[in-house]
Parts: sequence; C-alpha cells; structure tokens
Amino acid sequence: MRIDILTIFPEMFAGVLGESMLGRAARAGILDFRLHNIRDYSENKHHNTDDYPFGGGVGMVMMAQPICSCLQAVDGDHEALRIAMLPRGKTLRVGMAQALSGQERLLLLCGHYEGIDERALEQMDMEVSIGDYVLTGGELPAMVLIDCVSRFIPGVLGSADSAEDESFTHGLLEYPQYTRPAEFCGKQVPEVLLNGNHAHIARWRRDMSLKATKEARPELLAAAALDKKDKAFLQSLENAQIDPNK
Ligand code: ADE
Repeated sequence: MRIDILTIFPEMFAGVLGESMLGRAARAGILDFRLHNIRDYSENKHHNTDDYPFGGGVGMVMMAQPICSCLQAVDGDHEALRIAMLPRGKTLRVGMAQALSGQERLLLLCGHYEGIDERALEQMDMEVSIGDYVLTGGELPAMVLIDCVSRFIPGVLGSADSAEDESFTHGLLEYPQYTRPAEFCGKQVPEVLLNGNHAHIARWRRDMSLKATKEARPELLAAAALDKKDKAFLQSLENAQIDPNK
C-alpha cells in the first residue's frame, strides 16, 4: 500500500514509520510511505501555510492553496483515498481500519492551527478522528491510523492472522498474558495455563476476556456474540458481586 502524508511537520514521522513493524514492512516493500511538506507548495513569499480566519476569531487557518497544490502534485488523478485527520471526522474503529487496509493508496492530510480552509477539505474523500479529544495537530492521529490500518495488511505482522485475534476485532477486550518465569516476585502464573489442557485454557481466556470487558467497557458486551457459557460466566460475576458472604 502506498501512503502519502501531507504535513507541515514531516520530521515527526521518522521514528514511527522507520522503526519496528512499520519500518520492517516499508523495507520489505509492503508499505510505501511518502512524506510531503505542505510548506514546499506555498506560493507565498514567506512560504506561509496559514492565515487569519475570515469572520474573525482566535487562531489561524491552514490556507487552501498550499494544500491544493500539494494534492495536485501528489495525487493529480485522484487515485488515492484522501483522508483528512480532523477532530470532527468519523471515529476510527477496527471495522474502518480493516476496510481501509484493502485500499491500494491512502493519502492523509494532517491539519494544524485552528482548522483547514474548507475549500481544501472539499478535495478530500473522508474525514477521520481518532477520538473525542483535540490534539495539537493531525500528525499523531495520522500515525495512529497508519499503524492501525497496516496491521491488517498481509505480511505486516509476523503471523497473518494475529490482528484478527485481538481486542475489539471480536468485540471483547483481551485476556491477560504471561510468559516465563512461572513465578515472579512471589506471583504465580494461573495454574490453568501451565497444565496443557487446551480446552480449559481457551475457556479461561474467554472468561477473562468477558471479565475484562465487563469491567472496562461493559457497553461492548451488548454487541458481542455471547453463547450460553459466556452468559453463565457473566452471571456468575454478577452473583459474586452481590454475594453477602464476600
Ligand atoms: N486533529 C486534532 N485532534 C484530532 C483528533 N482527535 N483526531 C484526528 N485529527 C485530529
């Protein structure tokens, strides 16, 4: 997948795109990151990229010209799916990430200041937010989207299906994990994980996922596919809570 990133801070991306799984995928040719400095496209004498808002108000607005010139140079035929990272966008969720992972080209526009001239945003295909909070710019959100989407592209993770088997993909949060040693600072790994009974291990993991979800994100349980055993386990948690002997 080719990913073009339009930003006034291209240096911010070096570590994230060059290291770990994303860096490896880029070196393997699975991901092709192309950074573009919007400032380079400014026709303004001082290479400005922002100006005061029409109608008044605090802060500056990113000008349409440098962004539109950059879009024209990078994606003149509009072959990429163009995404503006904005707090007002549609919230990034696992389903959106999976759908985006099937695209051949993404183009991400990182906003700054108080906003982006609407005439530049009219050239985009969609607007994406990473959550209900406002960050200082769209660079971190773009990195989050790239990381999240890339994990669904075959070859990016070590094993092809590992992104499929995680928190949110099945609507539940993940169960706790342990590695050696079996005892650390007096704390034991749960016995069930040591005895090699795979059916028991699967049940325990499912129960721990249910418990974690109930505690941290109970609203996810309403949409999760739960069978009789799941429901019985959740009921046992309820009963334990109201157990007068506890
Ligand atoms: N830019 C600033 N805050 C943002 C957010 N929450 N999501 C996407 N882009 C942003």
